[in-house]
Amino acid sequence: MTDPKIVDITLAGHSYPVVIGPALLENAAYWISPLLPRQHSVIITDETVAALHLPKLQQNLESNGIKLDVLVLPTGEKTKNWQTLERILAFLVDAKIERTDAIVALGGGVIGDITGFAASILRRGCNFIQLPTTLLAQVDSSVGGKTAINMPQGKNLVGAFHQPVLVLADTDVLATLPRRELLAGYAEVVKYGLINDAAFFDWCDTHAEALVAGDTSARAHAIETSVRAKGFIVAQDPHETNGTRALLNLGHTFGHALEAETGYSNALLHGEGVAAGIVLAFQFSTARGICSAADAARVTAHFNRLAMKTSIAAITTASGAKLVAHMLQDKKRQQGTLPFLLARGIGQTYLDASVNLADVAAFLDGTFSPLTLAAE
Ligand code: NAD
Ligand code: GLY
Repeated sequence: MTDPKIVDITLAGHSYPVVIGPALLENAAYWISPLLPRQHSVIITDETVAALHLPKLQQNLESNGIKLDVLVLPTGEKTKNWQTLERILAFLVDAKIERTDAIVALGGGVIGDITGFAASILRRGCNFIQLPTTLLAQVDSSVGGKTAINMPQGKNLVGAFHQPVLVLADTDVLATLPRRELLAGYAEVVKYGLINDAAFFDWCDTHAEALVAGDTSARAHAIETSVRAKGFIVAQDPHETNGTRALLNLGHTFGHALEAETGYSNALLHGEGVAAGIVLAFQFSTARGICSAADAARVTAHFNRLAMKTSIAAITTASGAKLVAHMLQDKKRQQGTLPFLLARGIGQTYLDASVNLADVAAFLDGTFSPLTLAAE
């Protein structure tokens, strides 16, 4: 086995390793077995991932004496609902899962989020392990303990903070990920450079094409750097209460509005919304006179080079007012308005609570004038 990288996520009262490297699924027992007091576990996955990656994981765990029950769920965002949560909980109870058995989530953010939430409420909290199989899940959703399901009224409205006991990010599984899904995850990688690490953005600018084309060492470096960055931020603000963790939402307020307008559908994947949202956050920062036009242009060009959508027109014809109305459904809404992640430059993101939503609507409509801003 090639030596993997290990990033420790160190939180008050709970720490866990994120293991990053090739061939982790076919060697999973090495990492998982020591965490199972009675060598019994459950794997929750989706149909797509089950067909591609479940056999090697199951074979390795069972041949090392771990008794397994496996639940395969339908693929896709619609799985993150109440009915499926109930199905998972019933399955776990029928399998007589105990708090320390460590429920395994094998899949992308959908499987990780709903399995983590089930683990957080079953028996008031069971151990769980993340085996993320998308780039997005490896660099973002599997780390940091946010779990959730969707409601008809909106995404991720019901959930809990529940940290895993182990994350195994097997870089080999990314070989089967469709390019579009890979690019969506890549937007979250670039995000870490743009938040507070300009040197990492420079690295992304140099290595983006190689990473997307399948360069495994570029992928491993990007995942390790992203996980380290996320871990550092989450450790300072595990429950998103002091504004530090909010930095991870760069591009997400604009992105969520675009996702909501396109019905959280295949028309715009979450990471695609984040990429467009990041570009809009930089362009809005420039329009407000706080970020150089050169930095905003560099960010836009970076995503354009990868043929990712960077303009509202490429996504929707909705008005600025309609998109702002979507933003106001955001969980981060406070006293009727929203704090915005803006940037003073690449690697200089900050939370701005003074943004006027009428300015945002005008900016989205292409009619924003910084002269109006002076009157605020
Ligand atoms: P996903 O789980 O739906 O996976 C995307 C697609 O890729 C699915 O069709 C899946 O079956 C397929 N897939 C997964 N691994 C594969 C592989 N190795 N090879 C081929 N196909 C594979 O979506 P996602 O993009 O991983 O995650 C999006 C979800 O994550 C959203 O629900 C979002 O709300 C959530 N999220 C959560 C957090 C958090 O902090 N908890 C952060 C970001 C996003
Ligand atoms: N994905 C943002 C967070 O974990 O806080």
